[in-house]
Amino acid sequence: MHEIVPGLLHAPGYLSRAEQEELVANLREAVKTAPLFTPRMPRTGKEFSVRMTNCGPLGWVSDAKGGYRYQSTHPDTGALWPAIPALALRAWHDLSPYKHLPEACLVNFYDAAARMGLHQDRDEQDFDAPVVSLSLGDTCLFRIGGTQRKAPTRSFKLQSGDVMMLSGPARLAFHGVDRIMAASSTLLPQGGRLNLTLRRVSSAAPASP
Ligand code: SIN
Ligand code: MN
Repeated sequence: MHEIVPGLLHAPGYLSRAEQEELVANLREAVKTAPLFTPRMPRTGKEFSVRMTNCGPLGWVSDAKGGYRYQSTHPDTGALWPAIPALALRAWHDLSPYKHLPEACLVNFYDAAARMGLHQDRDEQDFDAPVVSLSLGDTCLFRIGGTQRKAPTRSFKLQSGDVMMLSGPARLAFHGVDRIMAASSTLLPQGGRLNLTLRRVSSAAPASP
């Protein structure tokens, strides 16, 4: 495992090819009940270039009216989200020192033209919990900066089977996906990249005595 910047841990090739295929099969099942949807920016309603879905008790959604938020139901179907795949939970157990389980597993699908602008993950209550990310399919160029938008950034590649964790000083670092390297992986027959991010949403602070 490499520490690319303090708090950003990268484990290349964490998932074997067979495990990557299992996870893709799990996600194919998941999208039968929780189809990919196109989120929209708060206020402007501009569409994201990625499509998304979620697994777990909570899912991250965004639209013009309600903005960024977590909710227990799919924004189009109103159904509860499917369960988080076991291999994704294993990654959380292997990497995260946090004492509670993740509540959300955001699934982003990038086609060759999709990208994600620099942003912070800050819709969760307890930033002591890390964000654990799994990459499947085409390689991407991932960008990481500091906790201020204007801080210097650096980029590195995330490949199919890699796991990464944003924790400690990198938990609130600005990050994004600059581009997808089309046809760099054979995992997804139609190409593209899937990214799963596991997040603990509620603080689960013990009730005071
Ligand atoms: C995200 O920040 O939500 C996704 C990051 C990634 O696709 O690697
Ligand atoms: Mn993010």
